[in-house]
This record gives sequence, C-alpha cells and structure tokens, in this order.
Amino acid sequence: MANNKHLTTSWGAPVGDNQNSMTAGSRGPTLIQDVHLLEKLAHFNRERVPERVVHAKGAGAHGYFEVTNDVSNYTKADLFNGLGKQTPLFIRFSTVAGENGSADTVRDPRGFAVKFYTEEGNYDIVGNNTPVFFIRDAIKFPDFIHTQKRDPQTHLKNPTAVWDFWSLSPESLHQVSILMSDRGIPATFRHMHGFGSHTFKWVNKAGEGFWVKYHFKTEQGVKNLSPDLAAKLAGENPDYHTEDLFNAIEKGEHPSWRLCVQIMPLEDANTYRFDPFDVTKVWSQKDYPLIEVGRMVLNKNPENYFAEVEQATFSPGTLVPGVEVSPDKMLQGRLFAYADAHRYRVGANHQALPINAPKNGVHNYQRDGQMRFDSNGGRSVYYEPNSFDGPQESPENKQTPYPVEGNADAVGYDHHDHYTQAGDLYRLLTKDERTRLVHNVVEAMKPVALEKIKLRQIQHFYKADPEYGTRVAEGLGLSVPQEV
Ligand code: HEM
Repeated sequence: MANNKHLTTSWGAPVGDNQNSMTAGSRGPTLIQDVHLLEKLAHFNRERVPERVVHAKGAGAHGYFEVTNDVSNYTKADLFNGLGKQTPLFIRFSTVAGENGSADTVRDPRGFAVKFYTEEGNYDIVGNNTPVFFIRDAIKFPDFIHTQKRDPQTHLKNPTAVWDFWSLSPESLHQVSILMSDRGIPATFRHMHGFGSHTFKWVNKAGEGFWVKYHFKTEQGVKNLSPDLAAKLAGENPDYHTEDLFNAIEKGEHPSWRLCVQIMPLEDANTYRFDPFDVTKVWSQKDYPLIEVGRMVLNKNPENYFAEVEQATFSPGTLVPGVEVSPDKMLQGRLFAYADAHRYRVGANHQALPINAPKNGVHNYQRDGQMRFDSNGGRSVYYEPNSFDGPQESPENKQTPYPVEGNADAVGYDHHDHYTQAGDLYRLLTKDERTRLVHNVVEAMKPVALEKIKLRQIQHFYKADPEYGTRVAEGLGLSVPQEV
C-alpha cells in the first residue's frame, strides 16, 4: 500500500525528486527519460479549457432551495412541490463581456445561473440580474456580443461599435436604460435580484399549462456602487465581488433570495397588449402579481474553483417535467447555443462531471466519447428497443403539445414599441436617479466616433421620454434631431 504522504506521479508511482530535473551530468542537458518532468510540464500546458465566450469571469456557491408556498396548481415540477421541501443547488454569478481575469465592478449585466439538483433530474435557470435583454432574436446575438468584446484591430473596447449596434437595434433601449442606471453596477453579487428573463411554461399534474416568469428577490436588499467607487475598486481589487461572496459564506453570512413567479394563463398570450414572449419587455406586476414559491440560500463555498465553477455547465434547455419552454425567439436559440458551447468548452461528457451530474442518476443508451471516466454503462444493455429490461420512456413525462400555425418564414415580432417601457422606467426614477442615468449615458457615449450614431441614439431616448432625450443631447453638446 502506497504511503499517501508520498508524492506520486499521475500514474501513482512514488516520485523520487520533485525539485531537480534529471540531467546528463550535473551541468549537462535535461534527459528525456525524466518522464515525471515531461508529464508535469505537459499537463501544465493543458491546464486551461477555453473560457466561456461570454460570462467568462464568475464566482460560484452551493446552497439549497426550500419551498415556502404551494404552487402545485401551476406546476408538477418536483422541486417546487411540497411545503418545506429542500433541493440542493449550485449558482454561478458572472459579468458578461470581460475575460476570465477582468474586473468585477464594471458596468455590465450580471449572470445569475442556478442549477437545481432535483429528484427528477437537473433544472437550470440561466438568467441575469435584469428582467429584460438587449435583443429579442438569437440571430442577432453574435453581432451584439462582437460589439461588447474587443475591437479586432486595436484589441480595445469599442464604444462606437457598442452604440452603433444599440442605436440600430432600438429594441435594446429598455435594457440599455437599466444598464446605465444605478443598477448597472451592483454593490456585490449578494445585493442584486435575479431573473429568468424569458417566459417559460409551467405544467401541472392535470396537464394544464401556464406561462411563467421567475424573479429572485435579494433578501440582502438592492445596493449599487457609484461609478467612481467602482472604478477605484476595479483598480485596487478587481476580484471584489468574487471575494465578497466567498468571505460572506465563509463567515456564515449566508446570502438568500426569495423566489417569486408571475403566472399568465396560456390564452392571455394571444391578447396581451404586447407579445409576452418578447424578452425586451416586462409583464406588468399589476396584471400578473408576484407569487412567492420559495427561498434560495447559499451556504457553502466550492472546494475547488476549476472543478466546480469553471467546469459547471448551465443551459436553459436543462429542464425537468413540469417546466417547458416558450416560443421566445431568444430562448429558442439558447436551447442550441449552451449545450453546443459545453461540448466544445468542457467536452462531450461534461454532464458526467461531478458538478454537472444529476444526483438521481442517469439511465440512457449514450456511451463512450472523450474522457468517459465513469463506468460508461458497464455491461448493461446499450441500445433501444431491447428485450433485456433496459430503461424505457415514460409517456406521462412527454411535453405538452403547443399548437402552431402560419408559414415557415423569417419574421420579426409584430410589435415594435421599443419606447413605452424604457420611458416608464425613466419616469419611475427619482430626480437624482435620472440625473445619474443621464450622466452615465453621456459619459459612455462621449467617445463615440460618429455624430450620426449619437444623434440616432438620442432620438431613441427622446422617443422614450422627451426629457430623457433632451438631457442626453445637452450633455453631449448636441440638439435632438427631428428624424435621422
Ligand atoms: C453564458 C450564449 C442570451 C445568460 C453563455 C454562453 C453562451 C451563451 C455560448 C457560454 C456557455 C458556456 O460556455 O458554458 C447565448 C446566446 C444568447 C444568450 C446565443 C441569445 C440567443 C442570454 C440571456 C441571458 C443569458 C438572454 C439571461 C437572461 C447567460 C449566463 C451565462 C451565459 C448567466 C453564464 C452561465 C454560467 O455561469 O456558466 N451564453 N446567451 N444569456 N449566458 Fe447567454
């Protein structure tokens, strides 16, 4: 039996010397026969997996979800059923545009990705700290993200590209206004709400469906950073939010959120005053009030950042019985994008890694593939249908039907009011909040190279609220144009 205090090679043999490489004579060249050295250097070269193409910088934590209100009328999902029921979970918070080492306190949406390890498989809510998004069709996502990342020539952030895209995609106005408001820089990951953003479908035991939106309400209260303090922190401690989360949990200050939902009867989607599947819009809480479902508590730090946080793979398509998708065109695109990213970034068997594996086990006929490190199904039957008592489908878990009509065609949402909700948001702000919002917009737009981009964007702010547009124009030393 090897002494486990002994350092071993990666094949388990004791290492004789881990400080001096083997050379031909004490001053001679290094020998290729020092295979421990070769293995050590070669493994080091392979330590990185590609960082996430977006949301690369993040921090994670373990916790649990507890049901506090009976919502079984709306969903049969195991994790939301049974008062007091607890489900373990893992969450990853992130910024969007920066690289893995970028500063935490930048103005950017924050990712809010939760993996619930339910008794009927894993359920992921892959949301943000904002209830809406910049665009509403997946086909625009790569272009949008190009403008948020670095310029191909200068390798610098490019405000001209950012505002060019936004000004030509007026559906972004609502989210841009949230981003430029105080909420654009949360004080910590603990002091922000989370949202599923998209519309999903809940299905109850009787097979009845409801459209649903998720809201995680922070129990720490919403707090934000001033741009000046955020800039100072970005220089002094770029990992400020990562550190805050880790230390809070380590000290036993376990952050928590109340999970609430808005529920819309299926038929309302045909008559609501805008398309409820459009992710650039919020549903009025007067029309669909918040209903509490439960409480999420984060109480344990990861043991190992790479194994748990970096290798965690969240996908909006990781669903359980009782939760289905909606025809939201962004959500539909995401159903492809995430699992594809995971196969590329982590590998075909990413779901077998401990952080991603469901706790209730996997029973299917998928086999083999790179890095298949579990028993790979052993000698059990490996095809279906079979006569050997292998796992079988359960028709009661089929998704509910969704009626469709019309032509296969590339069409946009038929509702083009990009201004009412952005204007409502502006009008809801206090005088000081409006002043800060306008200031943030003006500072962000100043470096834009082309005046016509500024004028186009000012017009959007003006259409949301004349005061909003006029003040941004004044701040930029321009006047509101009639029509661009
Ligand atoms: C991460 C694509 C829209 C929230 C990612 C990743 C991709 C991606 C490829 C990296 C996944 C990985 O490597 O593990 C897309 C596409 C979108 C879209 C194609 C639009 C069609 C959104 C929206 C939200 C969102 C609307 C929020 C409501 C997130 C979060 C992460 C993420 C939170 C990080 C997940 C983690 O912590 O691992 N996205 N995204 N994305 N996205 Fe999106």
